[in-house]
Amino acid sequence: MDKHKKTDAMQLADRLFLTHPYSPLSGSVNMDSGTAIANGECLGWAARDPSGILSPYKFSRRAVGSNDVSLDIAYCGVCYADVFWTRNKHGHSNYPLVPGHEIVGIIKEVGSNVQRFKVGDYVGVGTYVNSCRECQYCDDGLEVHCSKGPILTFDGIDVDGTITKGGYSSYIVVHERYCFRIPESYPPELAAPLLCAGITVYTPMIRHSMNQPGKSFGVIGLGGLGHLAVKIGKAFGLKVTVFSTSISKKEEALTLLGADNFVVSSDEQQMKALCNSFDFILDTASGDISFDLYLSLLKTAGVLVLVGFPSEVKFSPGSLNLGAKTISGSVTGGTKQTQEMLDFCASNKIYPNIEVIPIQYANEALERMIKKDVKYRFVIDVANSLK
Ligand SMILES: NC(=O)c1ccc[n+]([C@@H]2O[C@H](COP(=O)([O-])OP(=O)(O)OC[C@H]3O[C@@H](n4cnc5c(N)ncnc54)[C@H](OP(=O)(O)O)[C@@H]3O)[C@@H](O)[C@H]2O)c1
Ligand SMILES: [Zn+2]
Ligand SMILES: [Zn+2]
Repeated sequence: MDKHKKTDAMQLADRLFLTHPYSPLSGSVNMDSGTAIANGECLGWAARDPSGILSPYKFSRRAVGSNDVSLDIAYCGVCYADVFWTRNKHGHSNYPLVPGHEIVGIIKEVGSNVQRFKVGDYVGVGTYVNSCRECQYCDDGLEVHCSKGPILTFDGIDVDGTITKGGYSSYIVVHERYCFRIPESYPPELAAPLLCAGITVYTPMIRHSMNQPGKSFGVIGLGGLGHLAVKIGKAFGLKVTVFSTSISKKEEALTLLGADNFVVSSDEQQMKALCNSFDFILDTASGDISFDLYLSLLKTAGVLVLVGFPSEVKFSPGSLNLGAKTISGSVTGGTKQTQEMLDFCASNKIYPNIEVIPIQYANEALERMIKKDVKYRFVIDVANSLK
């Protein structure tokens, strides 16, 4: 296949989630939330080209509309998506590109119709900031699957035609529907990674009933998403095995994160010994994996869910048919479930393990992420370092 020619399925994926440069949304759909009038300068860090190198960048955000809140960003988590987009890995990033979709901030202004929040509240913003609010998915609180496509927090086309800018910035204006209440006493810097990594692993776990105590659960890749899958899995009472490419993470996985078992995925013997033993496996790796191998580890009727974006998904039909196995995909989550996940993490005392960094360290953080050198999420202290 021509490397640059997109199949219909790829174009659909683009429309729904990956990007919106050709989106039917641009300008035509009523997702009104404020005007396009700039209300001051916002300071951010942006990538200018596919080198992905970030540097200071000033831009404007829209004025606060009647249903909007404006928040001073306190913290922003660093997701692998930030690597992917700043380096134009999907081939259609728009520059300058301000990444960041694990945002926690303090509300400084609310629009006249805002019901749920007041000035001074801590709120979170995740991977999308708008949707049509009319379709069946929006009605069900599944805005991430909005049939007109959710508007992504960064590098999405906003209703005024401008390109959205993410959380590596001093403030953001968002319709209140796409903001989440940070549970009282939950440390705001720890809440940031929940807004993407947390909801991304929580959603498929609920959808596929991976919350039945005693079931066996495998997590591929121990990064930002993976370490939260381990913690949430343990809170559900699952028997959790980590599949990792990094032996250096073994000790912490078992002691600090509470996994029951740790397997280096290149160890054929260990992998073979686990054949037909998992009820569920969640792939959170940022690289390619062998789908045939992991499908062989599932019990009959077992489920493998993909949340990472490998370069391709390829397996033998026999790996799926024999044993009636399921392979499924998932993408972040709806607003209803995001709030539920935040409350679940607070009541079960599930906290991400983070390394707090200043914005000036962002380039190094992205490089370290590529090298798998992070335990387990970088969180940018925006308020204290972005001046
Ligand atoms: N579906 C969604 O909605 C959604 C949302 C957020 C992120 N994502 C995607 O999910 C993936 C993980 O994101 P993240 O933020 O958790 O990334 P991350 O913190 O960088 O963790 C990814 C982990 O994957 C493993 N890994 C890295 N390279 C690998 C390779 N070549 N082969 C196998 N494993 C490899 C490493 O774990 P070990 O050292 O343990 O092997 C690494 O720590 C990315 O592909 C990201 O784009 C999807
Ligand atoms: Zn993310
Ligand atoms: Zn919709």
